[in-house]
Amino acid sequence: MPRRPPDRGGADAERHLAHPPEPDDVRRRLREHPDAKGMLLITSTDWGTGADVGGVARVCHEFDVPLIVDEAWGAHLPCHPGLPAWGMDAEADLVVTSVHKMGGAIEQSSVFHLQYDRVSPEVLRQREDLLGTTSASTLVHATLDGWRRQMVEHGRELLDTALHRAERIRAAVAGLPGLVPMDQEMVDAGLAAAFDPLKIVIDVRGLGISGMQATEWLRVHRNVDMGGFDTCRVSASITHADDDRTEQILLDALRARRKGRLPRTAATGTTVRTLGPGAGTGHAAA
Ligand SMILES: Cc1ncc(COP(=O)(O)O)c(C=O)c1O
Repeated sequence: MPRRPPDRGGADAERHLAHPPEPDDVRRRLREHPDAKGMLLITSTDWGTGADVGGVARVCHEFDVPLIVDEAWGAHLPCHPGLPAWGMDAEADLVVTSVHKMGGAIEQSSVFHLQYDRVSPEVLRQREDLLGTTSASTLVHATLDGWRRQMVEHGRELLDTALHRAERIRAAVAGLPGLVPMDQEMVDAGLAAAFDPLKIVIDVRGLGISGMQATEWLRVHRNVDMGGFDTCRVSASITHADDDRTEQILLDALRARRKGRLPRTAATGTTVRTLGPGAGTGHAAA
């Protein structure tokens, strides 16, 4: 596995990906910027790759600055031992999580978790007051509490099921020529320190198309919206809310895209043009 040069700031040239910074990257930057007031770390990324949060936290604390973790995609992390550590267990000072993403609360259910004394709770509340609504939503609070309770009572089994589902999907995708799912090989020196197995990240370059083209095709022809995409890949998140039906929809759509099938629509008898290498957006053609 190629090692990441120390001054490339997380760039993975082979995959055209940027990984979260490593503790030594952070130490170097904090030395270069002694006036820095804190460190903001985004982990896990949209591609499921995660930082060594504990290592970065310890470096920040050597410099006596707080580590703030944007863990928007990590609401599920504390709820199962088979998942990467969440920021609060890894000594971050402040963790911000969108419970509506990988958790089960309604939209706008983002929360702070705070520990230690590097971030003042009063200052945090004042800043939050500047940006937040003065009209708290009972729905938001009720779904947050419902999610918390569901995870305490059933989190382990629900996430066990989701993890098995994700593994099954990854294995099925690995069997489709032209599609390469990302897996734990991302966790290596110089690459990522953790990988969230609930992210199904698929390199589509073997089909001769970009992730943008694959996403457009899946949306137009299969009504499947991918969670993320770039020039090389697409990604989908599996959560406790997925079931056999959604698993099948995703796999059927990927199989259809791989084959470059030209389905005839029953209603109109029109042929749907698929994306070929270097083609633009797929369109329905009479
Ligand atoms: C890394 C990251 N941080 C923050 C956000 C915004 O989160 P919220 O929906 O809680 O405003 C997103 C949204 O996709 C995100 O991906």
